[in-house]
Order: sequence, then C-alpha cells, then structure tokens
Amino acid sequence: MLATLVLVGSLAVATAAEDSPRPDVLVADFEGDDYGGWKATGDAFGDAPARGTLPGQMPVEGYLGRGLVNSFRNGDDSTGDLTSPPFKIDRTHLNFLIGGGGWAGETGLDLLVDGRVVRSAVGPNREPGGSERLKWDAWDVKDLQGKEATLRVVDRRKGGWGHVNVDQIVQTDTPKIPQAATRAIALEKRFLHIPVKTGGPKYRAKILGEDGRPIREFDVELAAGKPDFFAFADLDACKGKTVTFRVDEIEDPKALDGIAQADDVPDAASLYKEPHRPQFHFTSRRGWLNDPNGLVWRDGEYHLFYQHNPYGWAWGNMHWGHAVSPDLVRWTELPIALYPHEYGDWAFSGSAVTDRGNTSGFGKDGADPLVAAYTSTGRGECIVYSNDRGRTWAEFAGNPVVKHDGRDPRLFWYAPGDHWVMAVYDEAKDRQSIDFYTSPDLKAWTFASRSDGYFECPDVFELAVDGDPNRKLWVLTAADGKYRLGTFDGKAFTPTSGPEKLTTWHGNFYAAQTFSDEPKGRRIQIGWGQNVTFPGSAFNQQMALPVELTLRSTKDGPRMFAEPVEELKSLRAGSKEFGGKALEPGAENPLVAEAGDLFEIELAFRPGSAKSLELDLRGTPLIYDVDRQDVVCKQVRTFVPQVDGVVRLHVFLDRGSVEVFANGGRTAVSVAAIPDDANHSLGIAAKGGPVELEKLTVHALRSSWLAHPGP
Ligand code: FRU
Repeated sequence: MLATLVLVGSLAVATAAEDSPRPDVLVADFEGDDYGGWKATGDAFGDAPARGTLPGQMPVEGYLGRGLVNSFRNGDDSTGDLTSPPFKIDRTHLNFLIGGGGWAGETGLDLLVDGRVVRSAVGPNREPGGSERLKWDAWDVKDLQGKEATLRVVDRRKGGWGHVNVDQIVQTDTPKIPQAATRAIALEKRFLHIPVKTGGPKYRAKILGEDGRPIREFDVELAAGKPDFFAFADLDACKGKTVTFRVDEIEDPKALDGIAQADDVPDAASLYKEPHRPQFHFTSRRGWLNDPNGLVWRDGEYHLFYQHNPYGWAWGNMHWGHAVSPDLVRWTELPIALYPHEYGDWAFSGSAVTDRGNTSGFGKDGADPLVAAYTSTGRGECIVYSNDRGRTWAEFAGNPVVKHDGRDPRLFWYAPGDHWVMAVYDEAKDRQSIDFYTSPDLKAWTFASRSDGYFECPDVFELAVDGDPNRKLWVLTAADGKYRLGTFDGKAFTPTSGPEKLTTWHGNFYAAQTFSDEPKGRRIQIGWGQNVTFPGSAFNQQMALPVELTLRSTKDGPRMFAEPVEELKSLRAGSKEFGGKALEPGAENPLVAEAGDLFEIELAFRPGSAKSLELDLRGTPLIYDVDRQDVVCKQVRTFVPQVDGVVRLHVFLDRGSVEVFANGGRTAVSVAAIPDDANHSLGIAAKGGPVELEKLTVHALRSSWLAHPGP
C-alpha cells in the first residue's frame, strides 16, 4: 500500500541519474535530542524523536541509528502533525524509511510545495497484526528540482494502525525504489536452501510452478549478506521442473542469489549437534515452534505435530510440523504435515484421533483413518484425514465444519454417547469460553454447550482418582495450564472442584495437549516450553518433557499430578548416589566433581532449620527458599510446601531449560535457562543450617536424538 503513483516513470530517471550521481543530502535522520527545526502539533509526536519502540507497541524495526519519528506516542489515538523547515529540492529523488498505518491522507509523509501536497506516502498496515518494520520508499522529484518544499509527517487517525513511523529522509540521485526480483531454478534436487537473517527485512516470497501459480508462499527475512542460517523448502514433488522464486518488492534483488538447491536439509551433518541444541527436548530442525498439535498414538508411533514456522526464527507462517517417536523420547522429524491453505490462511492449532470404525467414511481398504481438526485462520475449524500413518493429509470437501470467532479444536470420542466431541476455544468482546460441539461422524457438528472463563487450546479428558476406576473425574484445561475437575455428560462440563481454577505447571509452559489413543491407557501430556529461546541458533523454542498426568487425593481434594514419563529413564547413562547424610553449611561440595552436559537429579531433603538449599546447575542456580517454601529458578518462583518435613525435587537439566517436578509431580516447573557453556559442573550447598539429604541421585543423561535420518 505504499504510494505507487510516484514510482511511475522512475526507471528512466534512475538511468539518467546514474550518469552523474551527486552525493546524497541528508534532510533528517532524527538522531538529535529534539526535532531540530521541525514543528510538532497535537500529542502524537512529543518534543523529540522516539528511541525505537514505544510502550504498548509491537517491536519497531528497520529504522537507522537510535531515533525515528514514531507517532505511537500516547498510543494509536493520539494525533498531530510534524512539519519540517523549508528546504530546496536539488536531487532527482527523495529516499525515506516509512512504516505504520496505511491510511491515505491520515497516516503518512507528505511533500508540500507552495502549501500544496505534491507527493505522499503511507505505511503498509491496515489490518490487525502486520509489522512495525520501516521500509524504504522514494519519490521522483525531478520536476520539482530548484523549488522550495516542506515535509510533513501526519497522524490524523485514531484506532488500529492510527500511527506512522518515518526515518532517514535523504535527497538523492539513486532512489531506493523497491522492485520485484525473480530467479528461475531448474530443480534437480529436493530442497531449496533459503538464506535467513533473523531480524532483517521481511519479504513475502513465492515459489511459483511452471504454470505461474504459487506452490509455496511465505514471509521470510531473506539475507542479502551473510545469513544467520539456511531455512529450507521441501520441493520433492517439483524435481525435474523449473520453479521461480519471486519477491514482489525487495530493496536488494541480490538476496535471491544466495538460494541454493541440495539433496538434504541444510547442515545435515551437524544437525542436533549444534552447541545449544536441546538433547532430550524436542526442537525443530529449523525455525520456530509453538503449540503441540494432533498428539496421537497410532500403529507403534507417537505423533507430535506442532505449530511451526519453517522459514524463520520467530512466530509466523503457521504450518503443522511433524515428528514421530516409538517411545515419546526419541523423535524423528518428518516432512511438514499441513501447509497453510493459502498465504495468510495459516494452519493453527488442533488435535487428531483415530476414527475407530471409520465413522467419517474417510478410511481406505478397511483401515480406520487418522482424522485431525485444525483452525484454518481464513476459513474456520477444518477437518483433514490421513490413510498413510499421518504422512500426508487430505481436506474434507465440506470444510470448514465450524465457523465462529475462535480456534484450537480438540477432538475426542465420548463412548457412553457413541459420538464425537469437539471442545474449541471461542471468544467475543467480553467473553472467553470453551464451546462443545458433538458429531456422529466428525463432519457434521452441532453446538452443545459453553463453559465460560477459559483460555485458548482446550483439552478435556477423564482420569481415575488414585487409579480407582469407580472414582473418575473429568479435567477441563486450556493453554495457561489452569484446570477444573468435574463431570461431563457428552455435551456439557459441570465443574465440581470449585470456582478457583487449579494448576500443576508453572513457568515457561503453555498450550499443552494430551495424546489420543495412548496404547497403555496413560494420559500423556506435552506442553510448549514457551519462550525457551535459542538466540543465534537456526531453531527456536522447545517442547517441555512428556509427562504422565494422574489424579491423586490430597488434603485439598483430588489434584492433577505431572510426572516425567518412565521412558525417560532409558536416557540414563550412569548414576551416582550422594544422599543419606547431613549437608553442613560451608561443607565441601559433594557434587562439584560431577562433570557433564545433561543431568537428571532426584533429591529428597529435610531443610530443618536451614535458610536455603542451593543447587548450581552448570551455572544456573536452583534454590529452595525454606522460609517461603518456594523453589526459585531464574525469574520463576513456585510454592512447594514441605510434606511431613521433606521436599522432593526431580530435576532435568538440558541445554535450554531446567525442569523441576516437585513432591511427586504435585507441582511442575519449566524454566528457560541456557547453561554456561564453559561450566560443566554441578554443585549443592546448604545455607543457614544443615540440611538432611535423604536422597541425592545424579544421573548423567545421553542425547535422545536419533541420528538425522536423511532426507
Ligand atoms: C496458542 C496459539 C493458539 C493458536 C496458535 C497459533 O499459543 O495462539 O491459540 O492456534 O497459537 O500459532
């Protein structure tokens, strides 16, 4: 939505100018402590240029130096003008950086001559979402050379994208006019490797087939210089054909030169061996992940689908990534399972089941299909099915099956009623709820009930209290991990655990989901280790450890416990016992000699009169604060009361996180923590008094990654 009228005819001018490019003349870079001679009216601009992002604003990027004009001051509803002193036009073009709202006449930059607006430009955004990145634009002002002009930044709009960002206005003979760039590639190999610069300018890229239609379309921070990493596009189906990589508007078309084709994914030889790669938490080979999706067991495989941006380190371009495991611990990554329906219509979160008895009729050759429900952001809740062990998925022709303001459908079979249930997040201006729909066949859905006061990513399941099959309760939970216990009659959930929601998980944990059809009848949950980040790596975010959920009686009533799945024990590569003694304050540290990378620690202690017990996990402190009965790790502080004078902690240390399961899983904590690279030791110290160590077992762990299986 950048003003296009001024771009017309610019090529001829650029050629003429190339013969005699004169040095650029800076009009304004907004680096000063005030606006210089520029005059502000209204409340949107303040007295001085902004230093980047303002409170409440999405991250502003792409400006040069420290300062810029940013009319988000006092939010979107503030308005005003910012007018330059007069200057003489004496180059063929004006270059400038612009971002923010795309409202012609209301949020933009104007050029005035004799009091008349002779050029104007606006930012690119009108819809919710979008980007605060400033981009280059330019005006051809050849016809105005020699005239006196002023520039005016205007913000006359309130509400969404009611602001504008401007920086680096330069008179020039070499305009920075965004142009289209294309590169035809005769595909002899399966993968395109795409150079990415995290935080660099983001472009909308298309990979077009021979018929000119997009095979892939996505946003990517295409690196013009040295990339941070290579992302990849799997184009197996196009081998032997010529595809065209196209970006409609790019400042430096040379960025496309860095794209290469290859038989395997980038850096295949060092995959999973990168310095900060978690060794027993799931991460994606490349790019971003968030919510686990479609967790289902089928024919010997646990399937982990997940929210995935294959082309960048940050959230975006939502696909369903896919990995399978025989044991919940050793994962093999497979090709992407769900692509966005089209650009901007992303594949958001959802769930999967085996359709036992083929109620949907999607099955083939007498086998029951896998059926998944997901949010197609441009359409609504959609159904897809697979008859090849989840490798490829077909769309139900009647999609979307539910249309509403919401997302994240969770499917399950309600045996007593012989019908399917979809629990799905629904939101209105003043309400957030989980809605229940029912269906005989996974295709036709009927609204059944609404439970108010819940967040996105619902999950619903039944658990036996203390394993007693005659005492079962239903759990209704959502992305924030908070849950209620109650009854479910196939249509509606009725809470019995009281108005207060309960919680097991704390810290970097979100959007968890449990497996459908777990073969041992366990309720296994995997959550997203939200904001467990890996700066500088080719991947970002991890899944938390898989846990088994149980309901157990406590003095407060039945509560959900989360314990790491027993399969994790298979990673133990050597164990030592240090317990059975008192640890005196100031005593020689019994653990310090332990050297390694990945650890599991089982600890049971009586704090007695001590002030604290402090573990040092390769440089990350994990503290039990006795007075407050808190476990403290980095910013995460969690109440863990002593039980009969004893505290039990089960700790896992990987390369991006510390996880703690306290008091048998009554409380679980996930904390983003990258260990100190140079520090491979563990330590333990009692402070303020002796601590009785009943048990202190340290297990060295081995990596869970199977070797990269090859393309
Ligand atoms: C939760 C969530 C979901 C949505 C998905 C998009 O983290 O916002 O509600 O489906 O992530 O990636």
